[in-house]
Amino acid sequence: MVIHINIAHKATREPQLKMKFTISFLLFFLVLTPFAFSDLNVGFYNSSCPKVEYIVSQVVQTNFNINNSITVTFLRMHFHVCFARGCDASILIDSMTGKESENDATPNESVRGYEMIDEIKNFIEKVCPSMVSCADIISLPTRYFIVLAGGPNYKVPTGRRDGIIISTLEETNIPSPRSSISDALKSFNSKGMTMEEMVTLLGAHTVGFTYCNLVRKRLSNDSSMEPSFGNKLVGLCSMQGDPKVFLDQNTSLVFDNQLYNQFFLERGVLAFEQQFASDSVTKEVVMRFTRNGESFMERFVDAMVEMENIGVLLGNEGYIGKNCRVFNS
Ligand code: HEM
Ligand SMILES: *[C@@H]1O[C@H](CO)[C@@H](O)[C@H](O)[C@H]1NC(C)=O
Ligand SMILES: *[C@@H]1O[C@H](CO)[C@@H](O)[C@H](O)[C@H]1NC(C)=O
Ligand SMILES: *[C@@H]1O[C@H](CO)[C@@H](O)[C@H](O)[C@H]1NC(C)=O
Ligand SMILES: *[C@@H]1O[C@H](CO)[C@@H](O)[C@H](O)[C@H]1NC(C)=O
Ligand SMILES: *[C@@H]1O[C@H](CO)[C@@H](O)[C@H](O)[C@H]1NC(C)=O
Repeated sequence: MVIHINIAHKATREPQLKMKFTISFLLFFLVLTPFAFSDLNVGFYNSSCPKVEYIVSQVVQTNFNINNSITVTFLRMHFHVCFARGCDASILIDSMTGKESENDATPNESVRGYEMIDEIKNFIEKVCPSMVSCADIISLPTRYFIVLAGGPNYKVPTGRRDGIIISTLEETNIPSPRSSISDALKSFNSKGMTMEEMVTLLGAHTVGFTYCNLVRKRLSNDSSMEPSFGNKLVGLCSMQGDPKVFLDQNTSLVFDNQLYNQFFLERGVLAFEQQFASDSVTKEVVMRFTRNGESFMERFVDAMVEMENIGVLLGNEGYIGKNCRVFNS
């Protein structure tokens, strides 16, 4: 009898215990999650996917060897990704019916960048399925590209999760080359970034290029362009079609501080870039980076890491995309 009672007693208590356990379990997560996962970490995948950095470096190297201009495509795409909803890779999701995604807002050159992301993701999924986010797969290669172009090496904090919501065009806040410096600054400020960080990140144009169509209008009449440089561009753009023009006309393919020196010498290619050297707010930073390349490299690394923090999803927010172009079904 006693045994029976005991058993009955136990049976009635068990659900309560289970519930208590569930509650403490939930509390554990509710309380600890914000602390345990509140930041990105260098080496977030150390144990879950130790090969991730190696795989990324190999794919980047291969693509760079095929055509080194993918460096700039990727770098720019990274900026656009983070200035959309945030560095949550939602920009990579192809547009779906009825909703125009950020994808449509980016120029055609980005296509090759998307293809490279697919290539990296496919490799990684084979080794560590559903572990590495698409958002991290944008940040990691960018670093290798910068290094291959002669720029600074740095550690990339990881642990971003992918976004579930596709941003609309209205939500993207990418400054246009027609916007004033103060408007561009408003855009950077709205993402929590400073004026100095804006001027620093513009330094990515040291390996960038544009096309004559964006430059021609300036060539007929612009007093803020050094005359012999103007003649050089007139020559470049007199060729058939829409020739490519490097934004740093001195050391076009090298990641260095020459871009600022070119602004200083009134040899900026795009009108809005040239304004950075004369605007009362930004010119001090342009001057500083013109004089000190080391300082530029240091600040650039910090600003990149800062940019890569915009709107990140962490811990159990968002999800890990299996394919960076479509949501998991
Ligand atoms: C201040 C705001 C910025 C404006 C208004 C701006 C505007 C532009 C424009 C008009 C071009 C030429 C594109 C073309 O002709 O197709 C360009 C190219 C480029 N931009 Fe920016 N940019 C800005 C900031 C940045 C930042 C922060 C980065 C990266 C950290 C970046 C990276 C690049 C790269 C790598 C290119 C060359 C590659 C390409 O054209 O795809 N830009 N940018
Ligand atoms: C991952 O490993 C690197 C190098 O050993 C170390 O610097 C980093 O702190 C580690 N990160 C984590 C989150 O374990
Ligand atoms: C490399 O890519 C750029 C930009 O996409 C293109 O203009 C150029 O022709 C390519 N070069 C080679 C050798 O394929
Ligand atoms: C992108 O390419 C498509 C077709 O290849 C073309 O119709 C469209 O005008 C291009 N868009 C831009 C922004 O160049
Ligand atoms: C040349 O540009 C200046 C301002 O940059 C403008 O005041 C002037 O009217 C322009 N001249 C012509 C002929 O377009
Ligand atoms: C070009 O860059 C080099 C350093 O890479 C510098 O010494 C030189 O003065 C620059 N030339 C011009 C015309 O800007």
